[in-house]
Amino acid sequence: MSMTVQDCAQIREGFPRPFPSTPSNVLEQFQMDGKVVVITGAADGIGLAVTLAMVEAGAHVALWYNSNDAAIEKSQALAKEHNVKASAYKVNVSESTQVSETIAKVVQDFGKIDVFIANAGMAISKPILKQTLDEYRKQMSVNVDGVVYCAKYAGEVFARQGYGNLIITSSMSAHIVNVPTDQPVYNATKAYVTHFGKSLAREWREFARVNIVSPGFFDTKMGASPLAINEAYRMSALGRQGHVKEIKGLYLYLASDASTYMTGSDILIDGGYVLP
Ligand SMILES: NC(=O)c1ccc[n+]([C@@H]2O[C@H](COP(=O)([O-])OP(=O)(O)OC[C@H]3O[C@@H](n4cnc5c(N)ncnc54)[C@H](OP(=O)(O)O)[C@@H]3O)[C@@H](O)[C@H]2O)c1
Repeated sequence: MSMTVQDCAQIREGFPRPFPSTPSNVLEQFQMDGKVVVITGAADGIGLAVTLAMVEAGAHVALWYNSNDAAIEKSQALAKEHNVKASAYKVNVSESTQVSETIAKVVQDFGKIDVFIANAGMAISKPILKQTLDEYRKQMSVNVDGVVYCAKYAGEVFARQGYGNLIITSSMSAHIVNVPTDQPVYNATKAYVTHFGKSLAREWREFARVNIVSPGFFDTKMGASPLAINEAYRMSALGRQGHVKEIKGLYLYLASDASTYMTGSDILIDGGYVLP
């Protein structure tokens, strides 16, 4: 950090860096033709919607799933319908070896990884005084360890390639303490990955961008529970949960050349939930 006016006047070699050689037409910037995108938690919910966004924009996709093998059929249907390459991979993101081996397999199958979307997550929403340590460890293993393993091994590929793009699905729960359901562990796992992603944006500044998406309630299996649903409608300025089609554009923006000047950003998409 510069401490004086004289410090600030020092010319730093190699700066300013060149602008990227990307299209100036905005619709061309959103094109994903030929890009390879990995999505974790891709069989359903936000991950599936994001996968659709990528193939609709022309990308090849690797759909990672854990238990929902509908991903296999979906990948075959997407490949046929959109004339792209799409394959499904069964990976428990809590297992570092499975993550590193599957990343190597994706590179072998597709030749590269342009974008990695670390989206898989889970919640066991309970107050800490009612939460077992096993439940605590389970949430940490998927939401924190899973994102760290994916970032570490995808980051090695990005560093080797000299380019890459990591997008982490965090949550508005990284910004606020949810009401009325106490769920301190889930909230804290998301706060971890948000700050982790920002920190990686700096660490990887020479070769990759890293951004974070913080959704509010979306109508998926992990959306508002029966206990929280009325409060979700009341708290959201738009008076409802989000439909997953409403999150596709944000991920496409972050994955594409439309966002080449964005790194280290954490974007809330929550229908105005955290405004008050
Ligand atoms: N919906 C919301 O209101 C909301 C709000 C804020 C943040 N989020 C975040 O958005 C992300 C996606 O959630 P969603 O709403 O789309 O719910 P979802 O449909 O239940 O998706 C969660 C995904 O995570 C995957 N997953 C869970 N444990 C895994 C593991 N050990 N290894 C690999 N994958 C695993 C699941 O895969 P399988 O089904 O194949 O097991 C599933 O596809 C999560 O990170 C969640 O925390 C959601």
